[in-house]
Amino acid sequence: MKSLFKITLVLVIALSLSSCFDEDHRNYEYFPNMYEPIGYETYGAYDIFLNEQEAKLPVEGSIPRGWMPYSYEDNLDGYDKAKAELKNPLPYTEENVNEGQALFTLYCAICHGDKGNGKGTLVEREKILGVPSFDDAGRAITEGSVYHVMYYGLNTMGSYAAQTSEKERWQIDHHVMDLKAELEGGSKREFLTEEEADQFRNNNARYKRVFGNAFGNSIEQNFDKEKTVTKNDTTTK
Ligand code: HEC
Repeated sequence: MKSLFKITLVLVIALSLSSCFDEDHRNYEYFPNMYEPIGYETYGAYDIFLNEQEAKLPVEGSIPRGWMPYSYEDNLDGYDKAKAELKNPLPYTEENVNEGQALFTLYCAICHGDKGNGKGTLVEREKILGVPSFDDAGRAITEGSVYHVMYYGLNTMGSYAAQTSEKERWQIDHHVMDLKAELEGGSKREFLTEEEADQFRNNNARYKRVFGNAFGNSIEQNFDKEKTVTKNDTTTK
């Protein structure tokens, strides 16, 4: 009799508790903060952040992936240094040179002419003056100086830093040096074989700095594709 009373009591309590349960409403929460995180809007303004700004600027000195700072300054001293020291980090392969020629036709030939003699369409039509020939002895251009003027521009010639990637500028550079040699009556350079190109990449510190990843592997091949290729990354094999 006593246990029947106990069982009934438990049943009544259980029933009365569950009868209060309302499926349409949230039940009692012990630690609501754990259920309800505070979500900040990406570009929202909130007191708790510095300058009330949720979106942060990159840390000073941050470098985007696939981009290297250019250490020569935009002045005569920088020009002279780049001219003397800076070398093309890309191997002289058929692919790089052909690509460079195509880009030259696109960006430079309108002024410099397909042969690099300074007689492009704009010059013929007298729209621009003072475009030099690449064999101009007074200028004596080098791989480094060509890159430097593409990066910063020079007087009436604009900068190509925004339109071209670092790799593209070095490809164009190979073609400009070819044009210079041709204008000077020199013979055409031989392309590197695949093996020689690999050797060049391995022995070239600047190539590794610009086109290598932290493990010293080449990312030149994926350099342009980088934005689309995120899975199946083959660079670490
Ligand atoms: C709008 C016409 C124009 C275009 C396009 C142009 N250039 Fe020039 N370029 C000039 C002029 C003008 C100069 C002479 C600038 C000066 O010395 O004042 C020059 C000078 C140069 C020089 C010699 C710089 C030196 O060291 O004295 C090189 C090398 C050169 N350009 C390469 C290029 C390359 C590569 C491209 C394409 C990426 C290009 N230019 C596109 C007009 C142009």
